[in-house]
Amino acid sequence: MDLIKLQPVAQKIFDDIRELTFDGVGVTRESYGRGESVAAEYLKAYAESEGLLARTDLAANLVFSQPGSAPDAPAIWTGSHIDSVPQGGNFDGLAGVLAGLLCLTARQREKRQARLPLEVIAFRGEESAWFGKAYMGSGALFGKLTEADLELRQRATGQTMAECMRDAGADVDAIRAGQTLFDKSRVKAYLELHIEQGPVMVARHLPLAVVSGIRGNVRHNRIVCHGDAQHSGVVPRWLRHDAMFAVADLIMRLDEHWRVLLERGTDLVVTAGIVGTDPDEHSISRIPGKVHFSFEARSKSEDTIEAFYQLMRAECRAIERERGVRFEFDRRLLSEAATMDAQICDVLAQACQNVGATFEVIPSGAGHDASLFANAGIPSGMLFVRNQNGSHNPHEAMEIDDFMLGVQAMSDAFDKLDML
Ligand code: GLV
Ligand code: MN
Ligand code: MN
Repeated sequence: MDLIKLQPVAQKIFDDIRELTFDGVGVTRESYGRGESVAAEYLKAYAESEGLLARTDLAANLVFSQPGSAPDAPAIWTGSHIDSVPQGGNFDGLAGVLAGLLCLTARQREKRQARLPLEVIAFRGEESAWFGKAYMGSGALFGKLTEADLELRQRATGQTMAECMRDAGADVDAIRAGQTLFDKSRVKAYLELHIEQGPVMVARHLPLAVVSGIRGNVRHNRIVCHGDAQHSGVVPRWLRHDAMFAVADLIMRLDEHWRVLLERGTDLVVTAGIVGTDPDEHSISRIPGKVHFSFEARSKSEDTIEAFYQLMRAECRAIERERGVRFEFDRRLLSEAATMDAQICDVLAQACQNVGATFEVIPSGAGHDASLFANAGIPSGMLFVRNQNGSHNPHEAMEIDDFMLGVQAMSDAFDKLDML
């Protein structure tokens, strides 16, 4: 079957899920929460209407397959996540799940079983925006969630991750035990289609790209700088302990280190995405006594991540001495960098050629569930689809033609892997 015939189906699913999870600005699909469950239920109903099977795993991720495929045979796995950041775009995550589902749909409509079954997974909880922790659905499967992770609280409701996972149907006791919750030997390979979330492919006129690797990161959700809250008019500069000026100083120092490291060819991005004074006490006439902020540094190199982190801590100590403030850190969170499998990259590159797409091999600055598969020793690969206006904002704009090209390339790659 020519997959391009499924374009109207794809368009309808994107449109319907967008409408169901629209928040007035963008889409909101809370990890292990309402919007994510709405998307999951819609996809399950769609899959069943096509005669496909839908089951949930112990972490409440949805897994789709064809009836009659050997349940214990090694399979090719594909998928992505169905949650979003608050006021996010419609394609981050959903595109990869839908790509897999369309390939399954085509096989089912043709009544074709491949030698290796295709399992399509819709991960819950990939986005760190909700609990301050990424890769929850996939991390749970690999035994990577700690007791402290399970106690993290959802930004809006205050519920713990454990409560939200249980409400979504996950087996929290099994997750808490920290064991691998699925049979890795059944996964021959993991492939993920995802929109590119940066501007490179649009600028270089590439509808598709093969991903070489995924940046890791180090994060603090909340660092608090404690200073001395005083009347803004009466304390001279040399006697102030202004927490906001201290945080600004830190960020400017980090920016300068970052600039120098880039000049040396280091791969690094640095972000403080949340910064604030306490609205209960702040005022235009008060020297801020307390400022909280988040910290994130990402790189392909884990040595760079660690070195930059230590530099940040050293600058905090220097600012403490110079400005008479104190920095307090919450738990440090790490996500490993990952390298994609060379043979799968070749298969995906060949697939791009077979569908007539111009492509390049590029790294991923964003994190993806594929990194957990790769770091578990499972051969993994990713295909990026061009997307306008970046991501983690409501303006993501992937062209449906580019998406269908990506779906065709994924299908081609699955067929090729079936023969290897
Ligand atoms: C995933 O969306 C990330 O933050 O990289
Ligand atoms: Mn994302
Ligand atoms: Mn994503």
